[in-house]
Parts: sequence; structure tokens; C-alpha cells
Amino acid sequence: MASLCAQKCIPSIYGRFGHVRSAVRAASSLVAGEPKGPTVKTQIPGPRSKELLQELNQIQQAGSIQLFADYDRSIGNYLADVDGNVMLDVYTQISSMPLGYNHPHLLQMLTENPHNIKTIVNRPALGVFPGADWNSKLKNVLLGIAPAGLDQITTMACGSCSNENAYKAIFMAYRQKQRKGDFTPEEISSCMINQAPGSPDLSILSFHGAFHGRTMGVLSTTHSKAIHKLDVPAFDWPIAPFPIYRYPLEDNKAENAAEDKRCLAAVEQLFEDYAKKGRPVAGIVVEPIQAEGGDNEGSPEFFQGLQKVARKNGASLLIDEVQTGGGPTGKMWCHEHFNLDGPPDVVTFSKKMLIGGFYHTAELKPPQAYRIFNTWMGDPGKLVLLEGVLEVIKRDNLLEQVKRSGDRLLLGLKQLQNEYPALISRARGRGTFLAVTCSSTKLRDDLVGRLKTKGIQSGGCGEDSIRLRPALVFQEHHAEIFLDRLRQVLSETK
Ligand SMILES: Cc1ncc(COP(=O)(O)O)c(C=O)c1O
Repeated sequence: MASLCAQKCIPSIYGRFGHVRSAVRAASSLVAGEPKGPTVKTQIPGPRSKELLQELNQIQQAGSIQLFADYDRSIGNYLADVDGNVMLDVYTQISSMPLGYNHPHLLQMLTENPHNIKTIVNRPALGVFPGADWNSKLKNVLLGIAPAGLDQITTMACGSCSNENAYKAIFMAYRQKQRKGDFTPEEISSCMINQAPGSPDLSILSFHGAFHGRTMGVLSTTHSKAIHKLDVPAFDWPIAPFPIYRYPLEDNKAENAAEDKRCLAAVEQLFEDYAKKGRPVAGIVVEPIQAEGGDNEGSPEFFQGLQKVARKNGASLLIDEVQTGGGPTGKMWCHEHFNLDGPPDVVTFSKKMLIGGFYHTAELKPPQAYRIFNTWMGDPGKLVLLEGVLEVIKRDNLLEQVKRSGDRLLLGLKQLQNEYPALISRARGRGTFLAVTCSSTKLRDDLVGRLKTKGIQSGGCGEDSIRLRPALVFQEHHAEIFLDRLRQVLSETK
């Protein structure tokens, strides 16, 4: 039914990829209409991409642009560009396409249901005028997949503003616990000139190598690359070391456990130091796998330790699942791998969840309205799409698919690092949320560039790693194509 509709609704895709339709069925792709493999016709970026880039450069800083895409022709795991190239996409818009491109089920939801179209056309100020089905959408869609123990939800537009507002909620709850009764007149007047006690000296503890976004507040907790931070005033907030493990993990258990202890001791010390400074730590923010910073993993024991330190000090634990959330590690939430003693206090999300926001405990709900607020507070249109995504995750058992594809990929990466130990190492990760470290930044950039000429869209992270962030519909046969092309570029490396 879904594929019938897709043929009716998106003739352009079926028209252009029609010649490979029978081959696709044979390869049993989860997304109907996918090509058999990549096609590279020009250099990437090709001539049309270059023309468009030149034009865009006249009106904005476009230095980050890699190519111009043809989103009408992109399908499933394949990204088409304006020069007729079709690439297997293992990066998926910085990890933000849960079902790849033009998934038939999502197109069908929009074309067959006028209410869904109107939900997109009439974007409301959700904090003031939500639509009739907003409560049920929140309950059935977002709370239906909430991390166990978190039953409060605040929606936002992007990852940075989700973290930004979660920090505010943490500070408000921290002060609320100290305050007896209502705000004092002194608090009310002093906050208007950015002074204590109304604007208190509190902090959020973050980790070296972390990335929590680029907006003003969260930027003080982002430490992955200087270029994100230069020239922007920052808070003097505590920054702790994040574990740096030896690989393979199974052969270095004792050293890595000692590394966890070292980092946890540093966290405890920073709590003390900042309390003495008069700038107590109200919350800890941490990624379950430091993504932009280089796919640095923390062990379950490390996260269990962090939760203990936070609780001991009356601080909140915020787990930033903006990049890890929504299924790529084989569980809906990466922190579910950590066997924590109860839920973290806040979990932020965006990217694969399509809508931004945070789950949190009731304690973090401010007693007054308008304190965690903005005009849109998310977008119900994105929640419509998320509902469709979750239906497909369930229907096609995609979390199991992620585990199978991830196992195949990780095994292949480990084989390749054994074959080319001077070039790549430290194959790591969970599910399809995987990475490998290259022997230099130059080699990493070179490999990512040459993979592109072989029809693979990949991406880097940290100083010298290649990260894999495919869609949840990435299957074993896609993994074979990726591994084959990676082997080719490694074998051609001089
Ligand atoms: C862990 C993490 N937090 C926050 C963000 C910021 O999200 P956004 O780019 O949507 O503002 C990102 C983006 O890459 C991220 O990876």
C-alpha cells in the first residue's frame, strides 16, 4: 500500500530511478525506489554546484557548503546532487534524517491527510495557542518514547535552544530549592541590571571536547573547536576531563577504569572549587558519546559515577542526546545503555527526532509561566513527521536493523584497521553510531574527499576521525558498499 501510494505521489523519483526498480526489489531495500549503488558523473562539487556556490557566496558566508543537493531525486540512503551524482549517504545531514530521503510513508502521510498539511501551513505560537490535538500528539508521540522515569516534556526548535532552555530550567529549579516563598523585591530589581541575587552566580559543569551548540549560553559548555568560540564572551564555568580510552576496550579494562576514576575525581574537585569561588555548580551537561568532539565514548560506570556526584551535590544531570537520540545506537536513547540508577534529570533531543526539546522531571518545571518560552516552541508539523517516523521504526523493526547493520559495519571497520594499521585505528561506537580514527587530520580529510569521488558522502569529527551517521534504514548491503569503497581508498593511499 505504502509503495503504491509512493509511486502515485512521487512520480519524479520513480520516473528517474525506474530503471533500477527491479534490482532494488532483489536487494530488498527497506525504502522502495533506492538505486542499487552510487553513481558519480562529475567531480564533487560538480560544475552546477560550483555555480550555485559562487552565487550564494555573494550574499552570505557559504564556506561550509560541500554541494547543492537535488532533494526531489534523493531517495532513502541516497543523496542526489544538482550535477546528477547519487551518493550513498552515511552522514545524513549531520545525523538528522531518521528515514533517509523521501520516505514513502512520510510522503503518504502528507499527501493523504489534509489535516497534516494544515498543521504545516498554520504554525502556531505553541506556548499560547496550541491546536486541539497538541496534547494527544505530545502524549502519544513524544511521551510514548520518553526515557523511563521522565514524564515532562518541553518542545523547542533546535538542539542548541533545547540545551539553552534546559540550562535555564536547571538554574531556576536550583534557586527555587533555596528560596523560601516568592521572589524578593531585591531579586526582582537586581535581575534587571544583571546583578545578584536576581541574576545569581551559578554554573553548569561541562567536559573538554564537548559540543552542546553554538548559541551564547551553551557555547560556554562547547569545547570541541576554537573556531566555534573565538571572539565570543564566555562564562567562567567548570570544565572537566572526559575519559580518553585505550582501544580495543576489551583488552584495556583496568587502564580505562582508572581513566574513569581520574575524570570523576576531577568532577568532584571542580564542584568543590566552584563552590569556594562562590559560583556553585547547578548542573552537569554531558553527551553519552561526545560526537562533534571526536566520537569519544564514556563507559556505563563513568555515567553512573556522574549521576552519583550530581545527586550528592544537589545538581541536575542533563544528558544531551541531540546527536545520539532517536535510535542510531540501537536503543531509542543512548543513555539506556548505561544502566543508570533512575533517570537523568533532563534529556535534550533534536536532529533524528525532527523536533527539538527536552524531557525532564517535574522538579524542573518552573512554577510560573513564560519563563521557559519562545514564540514557536517547536513545530507541530515536525511532530506529525516524527509520528510517521516512529510508525516506520516500529513497523520495520528499525532498532534491530540498526544493530545488525552496526555489527556488520563495526566488524568491517575492525578488519580494515587490522589490514591498514598505519592508517586507521580505534574502530568504536554503538549501533551504527560509529567512528574510526585516522593517523592524521590530513589523512582524514583526504579519505573523506576521496570517498566522495567513489560515491560515499561521509563526514569527520574531532581532529582526525571519520564518523558514520547513516539513517535508521541503512542495511547490511549498504554497509558492504561503504566498506568496499573505504577499502578502495585505503588501498590507494600512498
Ligand atoms: C550533542 C549536540 N548537542 C547540541 C547540538 C546543537 O544542535 P543544533 O545544531 O540543532 O543547534 C549538536 C549539534 O550537532 C550536538 O551534536
